[in-house]
Amino acid sequence: MASSTKHKTHLHKESSSSENRPARKKDRRLSAGTANRFDLYQRSVNSPETDVDFLIEAYETIRGRKPLHLREDFCGTANLAAEFLARDSKNTVEGFDLDPEPMKWGKGRNFDRVEDRDARMTWHEKDVRSSADKAPDVTIAANFSYWGFKEREELLGYLRSAHEDLAEDGIMVMDLYGGPEALNEMEEVRDIDGAFDYIWDQKSWEPGTGRYQCSIHFRFRDGSEMTDAFTYDWRFWHLTELRDVLLEAGFSKVTCYFEGTDPDDESQGDGIFSPDPVGENCDAWLAYLVSEK
Ligand SMILES: C[S@@+](CC[C@H](N)C(=O)[O-])C[C@H]1O[C@@H](n2cnc3c(N)ncnc32)[C@H](O)[C@@H]1O
Repeated sequence: MASSTKHKTHLHKESSSSENRPARKKDRRLSAGTANRFDLYQRSVNSPETDVDFLIEAYETIRGRKPLHLREDFCGTANLAAEFLARDSKNTVEGFDLDPEPMKWGKGRNFDRVEDRDARMTWHEKDVRSSADKAPDVTIAANFSYWGFKEREELLGYLRSAHEDLAEDGIMVMDLYGGPEALNEMEEVRDIDGAFDYIWDQKSWEPGTGRYQCSIHFRFRDGSEMTDAFTYDWRFWHLTELRDVLLEAGFSKVTCYFEGTDPDDESQGDGIFSPDPVGENCDAWLAYLVSEK
C-alpha cells in the first residue's frame, strides 16, 4: 500500500490539557536569553497525562488491577513520574537518569502538587541498566531515549536487565516513532501557546548504520533563537527490529498500540492508542510497544 499523506505529529502525543491554552503574560517576555530549556522542552514535547493514562490502562487491561510501582527510565525532569504520583497517594516511582541537571530542575519544578513526594519518589542518578530498589509493576522508557543504544548487543543488554528487574507480572512500555517521513532530513515547526516556536530538526539518517541525528531549537517572538537546545545522536530502531530484540530479551508477548486519527483534522493523531498488529503506512506515526514479562 502506498503511504498516505497523513501524519500524526512528530514526537508529540496530543493531550487535551495543552490545547488552546491562552498565551500567558510572562510568555510574551520569553527570549533565548531568559527562557529555561527544560521548561520549553516540557511544554513542547512531554505529554505526561497521555503517557500515564496509557500505562495505567494497559496494565489494568492485561493484569486486572492498577499499577502501584512505576520505574521511569531516562526520566530527565521526571514530569511523567510526577503525574503518576499525583494520580494516587499509594503510587510510588523510581526514576533513573545519568544527568543530574534535568533531575535537579524537575525535582524543584514538577513535584509541588505531589503529597509525600520524598517518601514516594526515589531518584537514581544511575545508568538505566541498574536494578530498582523494588520490582516495578511498569517500567516506561519514553521519548525514544533507548535509541541512544546504537548496537544491537547494547539494546539487548538493556532490555534483558529491564526484563529481569520487573515484577513477575510486570510490563514494559516504550514509545516509538516511524514512517517514511521520520527518516527525511527536514524540520517541523510548531507554535507553542502563541509564546514560542518549537523546531524539531531531523538533521541526518545514515541508511548503512542507522545513525540518526536530531536537534531541538526554540524560536521566540522577539526574533531570538535557542539553537541546538537539545541534541540527539541516536540509532533509528524500526518497530519490527525492536520487537525481535524484546522477544529475545525474554519478554513473553509484545503488543503494538498505534495512535488513532483526529476526526476533526485527519493530519493529526487523536492521542488514543489501540492494539493493532498491522498499523497504517502513513508518513509519520507514533506508537507504544507493551511487553509482558
Ligand atoms: C531525550 S531525554 C528524555 C527525558 C524524558 N524521558 C522526557 O521525555 O522528558 C533522554 C535522557 O536520557 C538520559 N540517558 C541517556 N542514556 C542514559 C543511560 N544509559 N542511563 C540513564 N540515563 C540515560 C539523558 O541524560 C537524558 O536526560
